[in-house]
Amino acid sequence: MIKADLKEQFHSVFGLEAEAMFFSPGRINLIGEHTDYNGGHVFPAAITLGTYGAARKRADQTCRFYSENFSELGVIAVDLNNLAFDKKDNWTNYAKGVIKYLKAAGHRIDTGFDLYVKGTIPNGSGLSSSASLELLVGIVCETLYELDLARLDLVKIGKETENNFIGVNSGIMDQFAIGMGADEKAIYLDTNTLDYALVPLELGDYQIVIMNTTKRRELADSKYNQRRSECEKALEELQKGVPITSLGDLDDALFDQYAYLIKDGIRIKRARHAVSENQRTLKALEALQAGKLDIFGRLMNASHISLEHDYDVTGIELDTLVHTAWEQEGVLGARMTGAGFGGCAIAIVDKKQVESFKKAVEERYQDVIGYKPEFYIAEVAQGAHLL
Ligand code: GLA
Repeated sequence: MIKADLKEQFHSVFGLEAEAMFFSPGRINLIGEHTDYNGGHVFPAAITLGTYGAARKRADQTCRFYSENFSELGVIAVDLNNLAFDKKDNWTNYAKGVIKYLKAAGHRIDTGFDLYVKGTIPNGSGLSSSASLELLVGIVCETLYELDLARLDLVKIGKETENNFIGVNSGIMDQFAIGMGADEKAIYLDTNTLDYALVPLELGDYQIVIMNTTKRRELADSKYNQRRSECEKALEELQKGVPITSLGDLDDALFDQYAYLIKDGIRIKRARHAVSENQRTLKALEALQAGKLDIFGRLMNASHISLEHDYDVTGIELDTLVHTAWEQEGVLGARMTGAGFGGCAIAIVDKKQVESFKKAVEERYQDVIGYKPEFYIAEVAQGAHLL
């Protein structure tokens, strides 16, 4: 989407000239799933699907929001002095949360603003449309009010909004990827220390294909919180025998040694995933840096297996996509990406075979599931920025 279009859309909604235009990406995660709230590593990348915005400061205490994706809701007005969560404010609660926590952190936002939003991330697809929106609102405020705002602080405010305002107990991966992303780079992040490295994503003759189940993620958030508490409980049990602060402190051998302390079969599986997935993520970094894409792909496959059988967050839609992808020629690896329970999967596919790949996966998916999946080529993009 180009700036001129955004400007025009803003004008047609609010009848005024926008002051500035913005883009905030979505994200995929290459590997390291459900590790970010377990003190492990993640390996996401920001993508060119994301959220566009156009904004203008107002002189009063009102914020007006309009989203092209929720056009039926029209313009939603919010009072800057009443930033409590309110279900009827729908998607604008994400914006309210970010403004509230920015103000709480001492940033001066003393007048309202108008914001036009248009997202290109399919809704509920697990490519982080909510974190994308959070960071968008953050950079809108940063620009309009000339805030002195460190990017990492904004990332944390996005997470705070998700956790304390919206009520999803998520980790920091999504906001971090969207805030810190860089062109053609994946982000290798230690969620325990927040140390990170931008790693060139050099895939040679291969491309990342995103496969969308188009299944809405109902109930996803409650199951997400449930997985998180299963891991927390398993950690407490392990801590009775071994001095660790997170599951990310264990490797596979240590986990085997102490798994007997976990008094429930389901929790053993959940914790085993968190530990093994973290180890796979370390190996995936090495493989990518050594140019060993075949090994990288196999680690992705192993990640999916663990998410399917130990963590139980895939479901028939994601499994059908991923298992079919594994059978296709020219595929190095495939796995679900994001929280799971529907949403998207990714595959690393030989550029020359992308068309036949899509056709084969679509046919099988249609046969088994009864409707079509969607495909997008992932282009790895820069983090949230002013256009
Ligand atoms: C969601 C959360 C992230 C992360 C992933 C699973 O995207 O927002 O923090 O936990 O699920 O890896």
